[in-house]
Amino acid sequence: MIRRANINDVDVITEIEIRVFRHPWNKKQILQELKQENGKVVYVEIEEVIIGYIMIQTVKNESQILNIAIDLPFQHRGFGKKLLQHTLGELGAETDVFLEVRESNLPAIKLYSEFNFEEIGVREQYYSDGEDAIVMFKKAESYVLV
Ligand SMILES: CC(C)(COP(=O)(O)OP(=O)(O)OC[C@H]1O[C@@H](n2cnc3c(N)ncnc32)[C@H](O)[C@@H]1OP(=O)(O)O)[C@@H](O)C(=O)NCCC(=O)NCCS
Repeated sequence: MIRRANINDVDVITEIEIRVFRHPWNKKQILQELKQENGKVVYVEIEEVIIGYIMIQTVKNESQILNIAIDLPFQHRGFGKKLLQHTLGELGAETDVFLEVRESNLPAIKLYSEFNFEEIGVREQYYSDGEDAIVMFKKAESYVLV
């Protein structure tokens, strides 16, 4: 099941964030995201247990993926792909989508590439530990009327 998260989900999302990332977002940052009017957090659950989530911010027809995580025991079983597919489907083909990813995060870069995200730049020393971010972009599909 894929559902929209709300502020009541903050603790479980924070726990997954801590397990999954070396430099996790804290509870306050996650709460802020859950309250964003132009933002959205969507989670995936199995038998009512939240096992991963994605955070998106959208302004007009431009979205940014801020974060995506699948809890450790459930990684590499297709859930990240399902969550991203669902999210891109909801955003619609007419939306440009951006994201930043650590240059060392090859699994995530591979996942995004499978969805036709392209590397368009590097933000040097973007992360607090000095690592560069790769900027990836998925262009909205343009339609030609015939
Ligand atoms: C990145 C992440 C969300 C992917 O979710 P997932 O459920 O593990 O991935 P899936 O099983 O759906 O796999 C989708 C694709 O991702 C890539 N992938 C996932 N795990 C991988 C790994 N350990 N090594 C290499 N590629 C991997 C592959 O391209 C895979 O497609 P394939 O199975 O056809 O090869 C998940 O691994 C995760 O939470 N990682 C830690 C948090 C993180 O780095 N988030 C990204 C921040 S930008």
